[in-house]
Amino acid sequence: MTAASRPVALITGATRGIGRAIASELARTHHVIIGGRSRAAVDAVVAELGDASAFVADLAELSSIADRAAMLPELDVLVHSAGLIGPHEPIAEVNVDDLLQVFTVNVAAVHELTRITLPGLRARSGSVITINSGSGFTSHPNSSVYSASKFALRAWSDALRDEERAHGVRVTSIHPGRVATDMQQELRAMEGGEYREDDYLTPAAVAQAVRLAVETPRGGNIDELQIRPQ
Ligand SMILES: NC(=O)c1ccc[n+]([C@@H]2O[C@H](COP(=O)([O-])OP(=O)(O)OC[C@H]3O[C@@H](n4cnc5c(N)ncnc54)[C@H](OP(=O)(O)O)[C@@H]3O)[C@@H](O)[C@H]2O)c1
Repeated sequence: MTAASRPVALITGATRGIGRAIASELARTHHVIIGGRSRAAVDAVVAELGDASAFVADLAELSSIADRAAMLPELDVLVHSAGLIGPHEPIAEVNVDDLLQVFTVNVAAVHELTRITLPGLRARSGSVITINSGSGFTSHPNSSVYSASKFALRAWSDALRDEERAHGVRVTSIHPGRVATDMQQELRAMEGGEYREDDYLTPAAVAQAVRLAVETPRGGNIDELQIRPQ
């Protein structure tokens, strides 16, 4: 398959962690567009993957997403992996600006980037994949902000799936348990617990779930997929 004939996948948060693993996985079959906010980090992944290009944007800057996205080609796959864990505190102590920052990246930026790329996704009968979390189903003390953002992301994905059915765009919500990434290290530090890599999913396992959603034959759709450490 030549680069020109390859389907195109944009993965946000592809400089590290789960997004990086999804980019490697999809690069086997797709031209991958690497999303990230650091030009140097994005270029390093692009250079490693070969048939790849850059999408450098700080997703916390909602007003700049349209400008940046104007240069994108039509997409076959849009994977939203960029995300923030936010504060690990009781609601009584959460600063509303911290809450807004998490909702901006985890929900509003997902909305804005999807809205802008939707005409191309419709034209190519594409797929939108949101990397959600077990926290999109359950909420615990100290995790109100992250869980609320992931509940919101699940509701948003459910609505998009139904709205886009008639336009041929498929929508999958993927819900991993704990995954061995920088975010998990950050969370374990905030929880005051040990980070034991072997206890967690590998980013590559989550990337396989994305592969499954992308490769499900037309006529079927993986609406929601939960993947947990074994
Ligand atoms: N790790 C887990 O246990 C786990 C479990 C379930 C779900 N998830 C979800 O999986 C997704 C990926 O998590 P991860 O563990 O791979 O996280 P990670 O290791 O912290 O990586 C986060 C990625 O998001 C990017 N990002 C953050 N803020 C951004 C912004 N303002 N603009 C553009 N990019 C931004 C980061 O880019 P920089 O390199 O520029 O910071 C990085 O590429 C998240 O949505 C997370 O909620 C994670």
